[in-house]
Amino acid sequence: MQSAYIDVTLTFFFITVPVLLLFKLYLKCSIGWCKSQRTLVGRTAIITGANTGIGLETAIDFAKRGAKVILACRNFSKAAEARRLIIEKTDNPNIHIKLVDLSSFESVRAFARSVNESEERLDILVNNAGVAPQSEEKTRDGYHLGMQVNYFSMFLLTNLLLGLMEKTGSSRVVNVSSLMANFALKFNLNDLCKHLGDVDMYCRTKLCIILFTKELAKRLTNTSVTTYSLHPGAVKTDIYNDALKNVIYWFVFYPMKNWCSKTPEEGAQTTIYCSVEKNIEQFSGQHFEDCHIVGDYYSARNVELAAKLWSMTEKLVGLNNEK
Ligand SMILES: NC(=O)c1ccc[n+]([C@@H]2O[C@H](COP(=O)([O-])OP(=O)(O)OC[C@H]3O[C@@H](n4cnc5c(N)ncnc54)[C@H](OP(=O)(O)O)[C@@H]3O)[C@@H](O)[C@H]2O)c1
Repeated sequence: MQSAYIDVTLTFFFITVPVLLLFKLYLKCSIGWCKSQRTLVGRTAIITGANTGIGLETAIDFAKRGAKVILACRNFSKAAEARRLIIEKTDNPNIHIKLVDLSSFESVRAFARSVNESEERLDILVNNAGVAPQSEEKTRDGYHLGMQVNYFSMFLLTNLLLGLMEKTGSSRVVNVSSLMANFALKFNLNDLCKHLGDVDMYCRTKLCIILFTKELAKRLTNTSVTTYSLHPGAVKTDIYNDALKNVIYWFVFYPMKNWCSKTPEEGAQTTIYCSVEKNIEQFSGQHFEDCHIVGDYYSARNVELAAKLWSMTEKLVGLNNEK
């Protein structure tokens, strides 16, 4: 009995621990860093969900580059604290808060109206905000919370700001998706709004973002606006909090969040790269990881599906009424 105990202990220290350390080393070495020195003086950027996690680190980077940064957040006090921190870290006072609740189309429309009225230009729109709800909670508009926050509102907001971006000239829409889009295996347009499981719903929202980016790029051909989707990596942020309340998911997400994750600064690099790197316009519509293009995920290869999803989403969010 005692010798079995010693065997397990030795195996843990001489095999499991080194394997974990090597894996961690591999993860650290494979992180892509945006090395661009491009300044953003005179440019305006909007980042949704900029008060924490990947969005906050993106905002800090843009502020360091001299941009006017609009923090598009739902909670004023959290946004005000983020603004204070960004100014303290970067000495750039040109940081502004505009409230938007992406779980409400009315709020998205009011936000877009306010931006269109107050801003003369919009160079970068980072659609970063996201949720991974562990429930079937519906929004006031009647859609699944995750689908509306992660995808429908991104679609609506982008479309409502495109006019300003086209007027600005060379501008970019950067959409934060996830590798989880790979697992949207049961994706079917007839079930777009149906809740078939919490993880499945998250995966589908992230696939929709990639398909949206592809179709948007097509529609933006011959304009000076380009668009990119990306997977930031597994990043240690609050997005895991809901899932960690579920005992089964805890065993997957706790180690992932605490041992195998990037820091938010590391996780923001691909967003920053897609926003500022020079000469990537020819890759509009492509998907990025660790600051380089990756091939289409299997689930995202159907070009016709992207076009059909666009038409369907337009109707669901009521965009046709605005045209
Ligand atoms: N972390 C990862 O491992 C990982 C992996 C792949 C993809 N992603 C994606 O990366 C993006 C950023 O996530 P994160 O990891 O940085 O998570 P996070 O720290 O939880 O940040 C999410 C942001 O979205 C905001 N948000 C949530 N619901 C909103 C709403 N209804 N209206 C407006 N803003 C709302 C949050 O605001 P509050 O602070 O007010 O809640 C927060 O600012 C998400 O799209 C996520 O899906 C993350």
